[in-house]
Amino acid sequence: MARKKHIDPAVAGAGAGAAAAPAHDSEVSASERSSERAWQAALRPRTFDEYVGQRDLIENLRVSVRAAKQGGWTLDHFLFAGPPGLGKTTLAHVIANELGVDLHVSSGPAIDHKGMLASLLTTLNEGDVLFIDEIHRLSPIIEENLYPAMEDFKFDFFIGDGPHAKAMTMQLPRFTLLGATTRMGLLSAPLLDRFGFHWQLRYYELADMTSIVRRSARLIGVTIDAGGAEEIGRRARGTPRIANRLLRRVRDFAEVEGTGAIDAAIASSSLDRLAVDHVGLDALDRAYLSVVCERFDGGPVGIEAVAASLSEERGTLEEVVEPFLLQVGFIARTPRGRVATAAGFQHLGVAAPAKAPSGGSQGRLF
Ligand SMILES: Nc1ncnc2c1ncn2[C@@H]1O[C@H](COP(=O)(O)OP(=O)(O)OP(=O)(O)O)[C@@H](O)[C@H]1O
Ligand SMILES: [Mg+2]
Repeated sequence: MARKKHIDPAVAGAGAGAAAAPAHDSEVSASERSSERAWQAALRPRTFDEYVGQRDLIENLRVSVRAAKQGGWTLDHFLFAGPPGLGKTTLAHVIANELGVDLHVSSGPAIDHKGMLASLLTTLNEGDVLFIDEIHRLSPIIEENLYPAMEDFKFDFFIGDGPHAKAMTMQLPRFTLLGATTRMGLLSAPLLDRFGFHWQLRYYELADMTSIVRRSARLIGVTIDAGGAEEIGRRARGTPRIANRLLRRVRDFAEVEGTGAIDAAIASSSLDRLAVDHVGLDALDRAYLSVVCERFDGGPVGIEAVAASLSEERGTLEEVVEPFLLQVGFIARTPRGRVATAAGFQHLGVAAPAKAPSGGSQGRLF
């Protein structure tokens, strides 16, 4: 099995995206967060067979990994994009494990100078996997130094300073770079071009979410019936990390207030008390929707105005909140800003304004 060699504390465990997640994480203490990370890591699939869902991607990867192993060549560089918690870091672990090579883990913000990149690249062995999380946050200068490493497995550097500096090129072992990003749109075109393959991970379907909950329950020794697994799966925003987190919370309720076993009734009542609604929206999701529907009469409204109203970072809204609200069809993006849809108003139980708001009705779905 692949060993993890270099562990950057910024991305160890559940990943940096988890740390940035709003409402979900901001209300918990540091020790709860680290126990949450250990819990998520313990539940992480290790093989393609254990990895639930994302079938097209997994089939493609199976073929590429088998071909690389049979042909004795190094796997191409792959980029995975998608909202936090969908399994990008997990994929890096699975791929290195399936290849039978070492995984080296770092992140865009952690590689903050050229020496850091050099030290990462020089610890690689032939065929190893280097995983760079939040790759859209690499600085331009680091990116430029990464290009020859990705293309020709070369690293350029200077010895000495000033007029006597001497340009040198170091030959690196052939390796595979796996990049992960929550913001594909922020990646520069030259960096994107150097990946052999990019893939946008999708939110998981209900059947897959239910399987993930059942698998995690089995691993932690909790009894759960089909209804209980489905209820948690339905309310976890199509996101495995959230499913695992909710399972843990529901397990606590079942333990303290029931027999310890989870069924649909205990799952449903616990999730109501955790303020997770029947489609999986949490407090921040609903606050966002309420700002657009009520304060801005359904929009169009700019993301900056929504962020200011919620005292929340724009990036968090763009990376975490909006992708899911778009997915369930409660908001839409238009060139003039975000608008709430009829379904969004209905979900909040708020009447949609009779007339289109000022700014026009472009993109409005009701
Ligand atoms: N396909 C899957 N099947 C089963 N469990 C999964 C799957 N994908 C993710 N998980 C679970 O969800 C947790 C979160 O996944 P992971 O850390 O890989 O997400 P991520 O996409 O890297 O998120 P971030 O962008 O926040 O770094 C994992 O620890 C694992 O337990
Ligand atoms: Mg991650």
